[in-house]
Amino acid sequence: MLISQDKDSSMNILQNISLKGYNTFGIDKKAKYFSIAKTVEELKELLAWAKVNATEVLILGGGSNILLTQDLDFLVIKNELEGIHVIAENEETILLEVGAGVIWHDLVDYSIEHNWGGIENLSLIPGTVGASPMQNIGAYGVEIKEVFESLTALDRADLSIKIFDAKACQFGYRESAFKHELKNKFVICSVTFRLQKNPEFKISYGAIQETLAERGIKELSLKVISDAIISIRKSKLPDSKVIGNAGSFFKNPTLDKSKYEELKEKYPSIPGYENESGVKVPAAWLIEQAGWKGKRIGEVGVHQNQPLVLVNYGNGEGEEIVKLSKEIQRSIAEKFGVELSPEVNFV
Ligand code: FAD
Ligand code: EPU
Repeated sequence: MLISQDKDSSMNILQNISLKGYNTFGIDKKAKYFSIAKTVEELKELLAWAKVNATEVLILGGGSNILLTQDLDFLVIKNELEGIHVIAENEETILLEVGAGVIWHDLVDYSIEHNWGGIENLSLIPGTVGASPMQNIGAYGVEIKEVFESLTALDRADLSIKIFDAKACQFGYRESAFKHELKNKFVICSVTFRLQKNPEFKISYGAIQETLAERGIKELSLKVISDAIISIRKSKLPDSKVIGNAGSFFKNPTLDKSKYEELKEKYPSIPGYENESGVKVPAAWLIEQAGWKGKRIGEVGVHQNQPLVLVNYGNGEGEEIVKLSKEIQRSIAEKFGVELSPEVNFV
């Protein structure tokens, strides 16, 4: 049912809409109110409507990093702000301002077509550009903070536009201020990236080198790296159109060096990668060793090829996935004394 269509505005608010098709876990929860914003003006009108009606708001991009655990008594606003614009350039770099609703991988393809380097290693990450700073998306040795210049966001308190540089965003591994002190305070409208006209190729990940070698690639280009990453990702991660998931459910924990050494003595095969704060351990390894890989409990489970990915076989509930995730956390804490933190946003 359409509840609001003002003749002077394009604001359409629908009621009692199933969100099953709007989240990659395929969880069938309802939104009390649902609308799509294609412009900043529409976004402002919708936020103002929510304020007048004392209704909570959820901003949705591609729904590829959320877990719905309840019917939402909210206004869900799907962000479809479009546009890719060159706003400045010099001999080496190009500044691209991109609408928050642009599909992330479409931006990657666009940059490759123009031979602008910097985001090719982030090929095929689902979702929208507007969500990319939320957790500083990363893959295969690159995070967006490396190409991030600034973003514009609508302040939900007074509907003014604010600009954030990288420092203000406080990027970390799968982290930003928008998941903490700025949570639910801003709607990201556009993101500006600084891309390279003479790209440096980043192929230090073993899997990239192996794939390029298998393909007999002698000459590197953004396209061959992107193609290699697409093929690695397709071989490892389930397609959410076939089996519901939100990518890695947990973050990979970084352990103190002493804790890692202790585990290494007990479990000599434990992988570990040193970083500035300690040793990063693949959560997938911990989860597999604890016997969870491929486990199915009713309609939900742990993926058979990638145990860091929790899945919905079709009719699973968000609450069942939460329960499973808590059982996994408990079991990893008991067996290894390691705490796993979710990467996915629970709603
Ligand atoms: P959504 O799920 O719609 O939203 C995520 C959060 O951001 C929510 O809290 C939402 O309210 C908020 N939000 C969204 N848009 C805005 C906005 N414009 N303003 C303010 N808040 C907003 N992530 C990685 O980092 N690396 C990977 O390699 C990776 N691989 C994945 C593989 C698969 C198969 C899947 C399903 C997911 C993967 N992810 C990965 C996670 C996910 O793709 C990213 O987190 C992505 O950026 C989420 O985008 P989205 O538009 O779907 O966000
Ligand atoms: N592993 C196992 N068993 C398995 C699979 C993996 O033990 O069945 C261990 C292996 O030691 C393997 C290691 O886990 O070497 C790492 O696995 P993988 O390369 O698949 O990467 P990941 O650590 O599971 C991370 C990101 C991904 C990102 C890839 C590539 C996190 C939480 N996840 O996954 O991001 O695409 O690396 O860079 O950092 C996401 O955030 O949603 C996501 C998919």
